[in-house]
Amino acid sequence: MSIEINMRVFEKFPVIEGESIKLNRITNEYIKELYYILSDPDVAEFDWFEPINTLEQAERFIKHYNDEFENKEEITWGIFNKIDGKLVGICCLGDFEESSRRCEIGYDIKKSEWNKGYGTEAVELLIEFALCEMNLNRVEAFITPGNDGSVRVLEKCGFIREGLVRERDFIKGELVDGIIMAILKSDYKVGGH
Ligand SMILES: CC(C)(COP(=O)(O)OP(=O)(O)OC[C@H]1O[C@@H](n2cnc3c(N)ncnc32)[C@H](O)[C@@H]1OP(=O)(O)O)[C@@H](O)C(=O)NCCC(=O)NCCS
Repeated sequence: MSIEINMRVFEKFPVIEGESIKLNRITNEYIKELYYILSDPDVAEFDWFEPINTLEQAERFIKHYNDEFENKEEITWGIFNKIDGKLVGICCLGDFEESSRRCEIGYDIKKSEWNKGYGTEAVELLIEFALCEMNLNRVEAFITPGNDGSVRVLEKCGFIREGLVRERDFIKGELVDGIIMAILKSDYKVGGH
């Protein structure tokens, strides 16, 4: 078994097809749709970012996603509804740690699309990509206490709740705890996901 992360995924942006969603690069064509997601205080509530308030900020986010991909630091995908092609959210894998073959997952869904299964399908697709295609061993998530919907999505996808990391992150002016959840390659096989 190889003990290296497959960094060849950075040679060409990896498009991932699911049953009802497609994960693809977010281009400037989607500035407005991305703006609707990232400007919503309810979407930003438990996440690290403050809601944005201009289209220019959305454009800067897209440039940042592209730069991170070119630098092989992080992959951010748009989550597109396969029926109408609309952007329903974003998701990412980042903080790749080479020796332990570990990374972190993130995701945000447009509020009008919550509870339709998009978050779960996106996380399932990213787990398969991370553990199988990229040959990672562990995918981690940090969730702000109170974000029960996010914990539920991860549980449904086979993540195990490992504990509470105290005052781990400085978010919006304060130190906040993080619930740490993770899935290992061995969980993935055992669970038969
Ligand atoms: C968390 C989030 C990604 C979930 O996405 P989603 O597309 O609504 O997720 P799904 O529809 O696949 O699943 C949601 C599950 O959570 C449950 N849920 C939703 N809100 C809940 C709450 N307040 N408490 C408990 N469970 C909740 C739903 O019932 C569903 O579970 P079920 O299928 O067993 O009924 C979405 O709410 C979001 O974008 N929130 C804001 C951004 C964010 O918090 N991102 C994660 C940072 S760690």
